[in-house]
Amino acid sequence: MNIAVLGTGKVGSALGARLAISGHHVVYGSRNPAEASGALSQREAVASADVVITAIPGSAVVSTLEEIGEDVLGNRIVLDPSAALTPQLTMASYGDSVARQVQARFPRARVVKALNTMNFTIMVEPRSSLSQATVFVSGDDQAAKRAVRGLLTDLGWPQDWILDLGDIGTALATEHAAPLFFATAMALKTPTFNISVSR
Ligand SMILES: NC(=O)c1ccc[n+]([C@@H]2O[C@H](COP(=O)([O-])OP(=O)(O)OC[C@H]3O[C@@H](n4cnc5c(N)ncnc54)[C@H](OP(=O)(O)O)[C@@H]3O)[C@@H](O)[C@H]2O)c1
Repeated sequence: MNIAVLGTGKVGSALGARLAISGHHVVYGSRNPAEASGALSQREAVASADVVITAIPGSAVVSTLEEIGEDVLGNRIVLDPSAALTPQLTMASYGDSVARQVQARFPRARVVKALNTMNFTIMVEPRSSLSQATVFVSGDDQAAKRAVRGLLTDLGWPQDWILDLGDIGTALATEHAAPLFFATAMALKTPTFNISVSR
């Protein structure tokens, strides 16, 4: 697939590198493409993509996509791993989710929330780091969720570790797991762990 990764930080670089190794055509969209080696403008990157990964601060996702333009974004799949946090790592907005806001603002886009409940190292190395783990998926469009499941497989996630929670409204739950993530990381003194749902 043609994948545009918005953001050239930890998450964007990790996902982009791993998906490229899996055979996808990955381009990076940066606010400052001249300073990020090989990156395009955000608009150029999205224009050629099947899937747009929003590896940028959660509080900047809607405004960044607005700058890119609804006409360019169209009905592309938006894989959103973002979290909207304050500088103190508390949640920027309780009671709402970035993914719901994006889907409401861009109704033609096919938004899928995933990968937001773990550290970036786990996103791309789940099996080598953990014996058991869960990655949650939320979204309204079934075909988009199937495409994201395929990308998760390419990142190393076994299908039975992927838990489809349902529509985009369920992203509220996983985005609100951010305080659990940070409290657990403090307690364990490492971010290298993941949530695992057992039954
Ligand atoms: N780090 C993790 O383990 C982790 C885990 C789960 C979820 N997340 C979430 O994933 C997203 C990316 O995290 P990260 O750790 O990769 O962050 P990061 O290392 O700080 O990188 C974020 C990138 O986003 C771009 N960016 C920064 N501020 C922006 C703004 N105001 N508007 C638009 N773009 C901006 C920058 O790329 P350019 O300068 O090239 O534009 C920057 O390199 C965040 O929402 C974060 O909460 C992170």
